Amino acid sequence: GKGQHRHFMIKEIYEQPQVIGDTLNTMLNPASRTITLPDLPFDLASVKRVTIVACGTSYYAGSVAKYWIEKLGRVPVEVEIASEFRYRQPVLVPGDMAVFISQSGETADTLAALRYCRDAGLHTVALVNVAESTIAREATTALLTQAGPEIGVASTKAFTTQLVVLACLAMGMARANNRLDAAEEARLSQALAEVPARIAEMLRGEDNIRQIAEDVAQARDVLYLGRGPCYPIALEGALKLKEVSYIHAEGYAAGELKHGPIALIDDHVPVVVLCPSDDLYDKTASNVQEVIARGAKVIFISDAEGLSKLAVKPMASFQMPPVDPFVAPILYAVPVQVLAYHVALARGTDVDQPRNLAKSVTVE
Ligand code: F6R
Repeated sequence: GKGQHRHFMIKEIYEQPQVIGDTLNTMLNPASRTITLPDLPFDLASVKRVTIVACGTSYYAGSVAKYWIEKLGRVPVEVEIASEFRYRQPVLVPGDMAVFISQSGETADTLAALRYCRDAGLHTVALVNVAESTIAREATTALLTQAGPEIGVASTKAFTTQLVVLACLAMGMARANNRLDAAEEARLSQALAEVPARIAEMLRGEDNIRQIAEDVAQARDVLYLGRGPCYPIALEGALKLKEVSYIHAEGYAAGELKHGPIALIDDHVPVVVLCPSDDLYDKTASNVQEVIARGAKVIFISDAEGLSKLAVKPMASFQMPPVDPFVAPILYAVPVQVLAYHVALARGTDVDQPRNLAKSVTVE
């Protein structure tokens, strides 16, 4: 049941520290600060290219993984929506690795893409939340998230647990390619091990997000901006808001704004900016100045350092705990979930069962 919570969505948001910890426990040794991937029937070092295929929120998890795997492992990664991938006759190289991300493990298009890759001679890795699902059974190897059953139609805890598995996979690939020394492995492992506590800390600010949501609930359109691995989190934030509040929202790469979407900005459009203190902070902060100069109502999400460095005054801000940039996309996924939830409450929509949506999309 929902326990003390009003909806499954918020219950599942609050479960994240626990289920992320459970998922990390399957791969991370906190004492030695090392990661151990499940046995794979092929050598990760032999993988020359990674193809990631998924739908919806799971596709955004794959999109974050592209940044991680390419940065740490220096292996090229392609991420694609399953419904496009399966019909475009993609060029595949036998012996490469393809990863299929699916909470349910039953999504029709993702399953079809898996069969296509299997027939092309790729190593197929499923990343699923349901061990006995079709995608898990048909893949060469299954990696499991330990999110537990996800009841809310809008995916929350499945997404962040997918991210932690993908972070471990990126580290494993980097290590296999001799690109992750012991000190770096220890540092990144430590950052991952601290994620549950940092999310719990962040959730103590729920009331601040609820106040911001009162304002966002009045909007007709909302933009989400991020850079680097927080760009897919901007896309995910926009998807979450659309799904549960029915407000039109779009995510953009912050640097893409001036190539078109900035035309949408006026004083009715809230712009949610995901801006951790990392090597891209200054770039995103300057985009924030540009949109504030055009009257945008910016909701600036950053850590204490990032908030204090911002030269202009946003309409609202939300303070995140400071974290290693490696884990920032995992952490920054949570405030956009909470924001979508509270906007939906303010609008009175059916949060757990939004109109027209099904939890598992088993027909294409
Ligand atoms: C969004 C959402 C959907 C799913 C998508 C894929 O909140 O839940 O976008 O992420 O339908 O589902 P799975 O991961 O089960 O393949």
